[in-house]
Amino acid sequence: MTREDVVDVERLTDEAFYDLSVRTHRTGWPEPARRTPARSAHWRQRMEHLVRHDSGGCWVAENRHGLLGVAASMRRDLSWLLATYAVRPGVQGRGVGRQLLDAALSHGSGALRGMLAASEDPLAVRRYRLAGFSLHPMMLLWGTVARDALPVVERVREGSAGDVDLMNSVDRQVRDAAHGVDHDLLTATYRLVVVDRSTGSGYAYVEPAGGPYLLAATNRRTATALLWETLAASTPGEPVAVPHLTQANEWAVDVGMACRLQLWTRGYLALRGMRPPSPYIPSGHFL
Ligand SMILES: CC(C)(COP(=O)(O)OP(=O)(O)OC[C@H]1O[C@@H](n2cnc3c(N)ncnc32)[C@H](O)[C@@H]1OP(=O)(O)O)[C@@H](O)C(=O)NCCC(=O)NCCS
Repeated sequence: MTREDVVDVERLTDEAFYDLSVRTHRTGWPEPARRTPARSAHWRQRMEHLVRHDSGGCWVAENRHGLLGVAASMRRDLSWLLATYAVRPGVQGRGVGRQLLDAALSHGSGALRGMLAASEDPLAVRRYRLAGFSLHPMMLLWGTVARDALPVVERVREGSAGDVDLMNSVDRQVRDAAHGVDHDLLTATYRLVVVDRSTGSGYAYVEPAGGPYLLAATNRRTATALLWETLAASTPGEPVAVPHLTQANEWAVDVGMACRLQLWTRGYLALRGMRPPSPYIPSGHFL
């Protein structure tokens, strides 16, 4: 993949994930939606960052009519991480995805660990299991935060680019790999909240609509305080989502129960050479 592919890759992934959400849609859940222009712009920014830093991990497949699929991955310390993976609807199930995943995995040769957030697509899950990943079912909290349940959170402060060393240290403790250059992009894109105390440290990037984009902490008490802070940032009466929760992160499920969010199952955390990180809420893209 090159930077010139990013616009087409963004469109293709939006189409593939929209098609998947229509196929797997469940009632009681928000209607499947295409990305808004703002989300598409963010998505392209993240992909350009990956192509810049991990060109060997980012691959596209094409024929004479154009783009067929994409797999974008990165190496951070001794971990290989898959950011996105999609084949154009209509040409799925014919072996394109297999070649793309093999190419991306070659970027991780020598890595001790692997992590990705798998969709519910049986075609995707088959690929990951055959590549040796263990599949840990994930839960998602969704709904409107009961404001009267919000506690007073005292130890959390606003973060900045000056917290990158602290965050990389927490990353290494919790998931064995620092986010490194990804923090440069994330601190420029998201609101950051931090806890830095002798009793525990951690951080969370906050989604514009509230809730965590990514959360890591050295203990559950710190993680819980950070999660509350991200939920307090939601707009009263508007829904918020907390995705990518493995059973190892029940502390987060308990926070969701306390503020009356709904609990659903969705996707798998696919891992190789590691246990589900905790206390940790991975992002979809940078995990
Ligand atoms: C996941 C995805 C990228 C895989 O690409 P692909 O080109 O469809 O994958 P492949 O054809 O190489 O592999 C699909 C496998 O499922 C099998 N398969 C095909 N149809 C199937 C069906 N209806 N049920 C179960 N398995 C099926 C294929 O035989 C193949 O297995 P095999 O190689 O062992 O024979 C693509 O399907 C996709 O874009 N899905 C929607 C987006 C998504 O979920 N992305 C993953 C995000 S984590």
